[in-house]
Parts: sequence; C-alpha cells; structure tokens
Amino acid sequence: MSFMSKHKFIETNATLLLVLSLLVVTIGGIVELVPLFFFQSTIEKVEGVRPYSPLEMAGRNIYIREGCYVCHSQMIRPLRDEVERYGPYSLAAESMYDHPFQWGSKRLGPDLARVGGRYSDAWQVLHLTNPRDVVPVSIMPTYGFMLKNTIDGKYIADVLRTNRMVGVPYTDEMIKLAQQDFVAQADSESDSEGLLKRYPKAQVRNFDGQPQLTEMDALIAYLQVLGTMVDFSTFEPLPSR
Ligand code: HEC
Repeated sequence: MSFMSKHKFIETNATLLLVLSLLVVTIGGIVELVPLFFFQSTIEKVEGVRPYSPLEMAGRNIYIREGCYVCHSQMIRPLRDEVERYGPYSLAAESMYDHPFQWGSKRLGPDLARVGGRYSDAWQVLHLTNPRDVVPVSIMPTYGFMLKNTIDGKYIADVLRTNRMVGVPYTDEMIKLAQQDFVAQADSESDSEGLLKRYPKAQVRNFDGQPQLTEMDALIAYLQVLGTMVDFSTFEPLPSR
C-alpha cells in the first residue's frame, strides 16, 4: 500500500480514524502536561517584587472598580516595537501578587505596566481630572471625583487578609499595621521607617497635593509603583532550561 492509499484507508474507516485521532491528542496532551508536574513553580522568582503596600492595594482596587483595565493593558509583550515604546517586556513574577492579574485584553489607551515614575504626581492628578487638559485628543473619561472621595483604610486589613488566603505572603505584622501604613504612606511627615521595612522602596508622600487622604492618593500611589519593583539595570534572566 502506498502512503496515499494508507491515508485513504484511515480516512474512510471512521472507527480507526477516531481511535488514531484520540491517540495523537493523548500523546500531545501528555507532552504538554507532564513536565508541569515536575516544576516547583512556573514563575521564576525575581528580586525586588514585593506585595503591594496597603495604599497601593487600595489604589489597585479603585483601578479595578473603575474598569481602567477595559482600556489599558499591563502586559508588555516581548516584541521590538513594544519594548521600544514601553520598556523591558513584562515578567511573570511582576504580576505574581496580582489577584486577579491586570494584563487586560484591549488597548484603547497605552499599556500601563511600566507607567510608574513616567509622569509626576501633579500630571497624574491633572490627567485623571480631565485628560483633555494634557492630551487634547484623549478619549479617556474624567475621574476628578476621586479628589473628593476621602478614604481611611478602615477595611484594608481585610483586603490584605483576603489576598493572603490566595497566596500573597502578607505577614501578621503587615495585616496588624495595615491601616497605620495606609495613612503613613500618603504623609511625607510620617515616621515611615517600619513601612519601608515592610514594603521596600515604597514611595511616601502626599500624592494628590491635598491635605485629606483621598482615592486619588491611593490610585496615584498604585500607578507610580507599576513596573518599578524590578531593577532592570541589574536584572538578568535565568538561562532557559
Ligand atoms: C475609555 C477608555 C479609557 C479608560 C476607561 C481609561 N483610560 Fe486611561 N487612557 C485612555 C487613552 C485613550 C489614553 C491615551 C491618551 C491620554 O493620555 O489621555 C489614556 C492614557 C492614560 C495614562 C497615560 C499613559 C501614558 O503612558 O501616557 C494613564 C496613566 C491612564 N490612562 C490611567 C488610567 C486610569 C488609572 C484609568 C481608570 C481610573 C483609566 N486610565 C481609564 C483611555 C482610557
């Protein structure tokens, strides 16, 4: 039997075709699945990545509440045009403490994975209050109401505790001091030594420029930390296995 006629024999014999198809799919499945059972973790640990501080976490929840992810991704793909525009491509470890992750699926606006430090706090306030003031063609909605919504972190310990349940390594101390850290991070006069020990390199200042602590402070604290945890001047990827 020639190759073509063997093929014809299989294709015209429904039962044989089914059995052979299942066999092929099974082998393919095993090849994909089995290695995963032997890895401790598929996420390579990267120095600098830490859980969000309580204020950053509150900002993250506002980001989710407002649906910023509908227009913004947080996932720089390893393609040349993306890396040139946004910076080093995203590492899995950078979203290991994100529950749920904010990779997004659509970019009506730019990717925000490395927006931290790109603009001043004052720019962020202006832009969030009325995007058209800084980018005349912008279609982004206005979020000025956040300057009026005061927050006190009353439930932030519960948020950290919930994140701990899904694997974020918040310690008992972090949870106990969550509300205190929450308030301290937005006040440059505060004693932030403990905060900085718990959340290394956290940025401590009045983010929205108003005396009261508002949703705007929390959201900007979050935006300003995005993509800043890993030091890419010293980061070296592990050789691939
Ligand atoms: C309807 C879609 C839409 C939504 C919703 C939206 N944005 Fe935007 N965003 C845009 C567009 C378009 C731009 C680019 C023009 C501009 O800068 O305003 C942008 C720009 C930005 C920038 C500047 C990024 C850069 O690198 O220049 C930031 C920061 C930002 N958005 C944050 C947010 C946050 C935070 C939220 C939620 C509170 C949000 N956006 C919601 C569409 C959106």
